[in-house]
Amino acid sequence: MKNCIIGKSGKNPVYLGSPSNDHKALIGATGTGKSTAAMNFILDALGNGDRVIVFNTRDSLDPKLLGERAPLYELQRKVLRPAFEGIKVPLFSPYHGSDDVIEPTAIMVSRISKMLAQCAGLSDAQQRKLQQAVAAAVEFDVYPEYGIAALKELLTTGGGCSAEKTIQKLSLFFDNNLIQDGDFIASEHMPIMEIDVNDFDLDDQRVIAEFLLGWLFYYGQKGGFKEQNVVIFLDEAQNYSFKPDSPLYRLINESRKFGIKLLMAMTSLAGKKGIGICTMAGTNFFFRPALNDLEGVAKLIDNKRKSQCMSELSLLKVGECIATGSFIINHKLVNLPTKLIGIGDSFSENSVSSSNPNTKKLC
Ligand SMILES: Nc1ncnc2c1ncn2[C@@H]1O[C@H](COP(=O)(O)OP(=O)(O)OP(=O)(O)O)[C@@H](O)[C@H]1O
Ligand SMILES: [Mg+2]
Repeated sequence: MKNCIIGKSGKNPVYLGSPSNDHKALIGATGTGKSTAAMNFILDALGNGDRVIVFNTRDSLDPKLLGERAPLYELQRKVLRPAFEGIKVPLFSPYHGSDDVIEPTAIMVSRISKMLAQCAGLSDAQQRKLQQAVAAAVEFDVYPEYGIAALKELLTTGGGCSAEKTIQKLSLFFDNNLIQDGDFIASEHMPIMEIDVNDFDLDDQRVIAEFLLGWLFYYGQKGGFKEQNVVIFLDEAQNYSFKPDSPLYRLINESRKFGIKLLMAMTSLAGKKGIGICTMAGTNFFFRPALNDLEGVAKLIDNKRKSQCMSELSLLKVGECIATGSFIINHKLVNLPTKLIGIGDSFSENSVSSSNPNTKKLC
């Protein structure tokens, strides 16, 4: 794997120092350059042969941010719009292990129920009700024909107060028949797969992304990204659940060995959650923070030099950041916080060749 310039320290190009933890967090107040840097990282990841899954929430990734390099991004992108076509997930297919062990039905039923219950915030009673419906859906094999909406019918048939509430909480999935049979990961061959959920309101965008993150974790756990690693971009990562069994927490904590690399942008630290995310990511890019995060970010960078860090952070211009992690500068490994400038400019210096005839390779 070739290394790419991620920015400059003074006049010197800065390369990532092959961190064992490939997760990246970008934090900064709104408009400080996180998305622009993230899109450049995405182009670099493609140059390294990775594929990319982008959750486009809040209209956060606009290829125009890449300036002249926008066509590089656009030509390699396939946009999926779940509001119109649902999203194809082989949710009710038991996993076949490499040793040909098939996932037992009871485990599959509990896995599906848990994934849905978690992102829709179901109570234990509601999850039990859902689990009965999921078991019936497996028994009658209704998912391939009717999609996730089949569960609504089965819940209605089951009846009872908790069934009604369960249907209500899952209405986002049912009303749009949001999840249908198929395999969006295997069937979409463009290097960048953008899941555009901007047709939904912000809460629903988060729920959909959270559900798919849970699916991607499972997919990766079963070896789906072993041959070709995947970078997953997530904006406003601080808004996702970060409990120890949540998809985001598990992805950050366990997914490196599955070939999943997270690229997370955050406009605020959101207290402990953001601090947890930064601490668990291998490389952090601290853009100018919002005023109320200034001290928290400075502590994360270097608690002993907190005051100096605060003043350095507040002077950062758009597109500049202080990065922490492991870098190579002037052929030396540097593990100290490093101010990066010219982030967008530096990416265009990454060399160009091509594995895809339509596109230029960056690293
Ligand atoms: N390195 C850079 N050099 C010059 N301008 C930049 C640079 N990075 C970003 N900008 C400009 O700053 C503006 C905001 O950039 P961007 O959307 O990347 O910020 P953001 O931190 O993602 O904001 P938000 O939190 O609102 O999503 C854009 O107009 C972009 O072109
Ligand atoms: Mg942004």
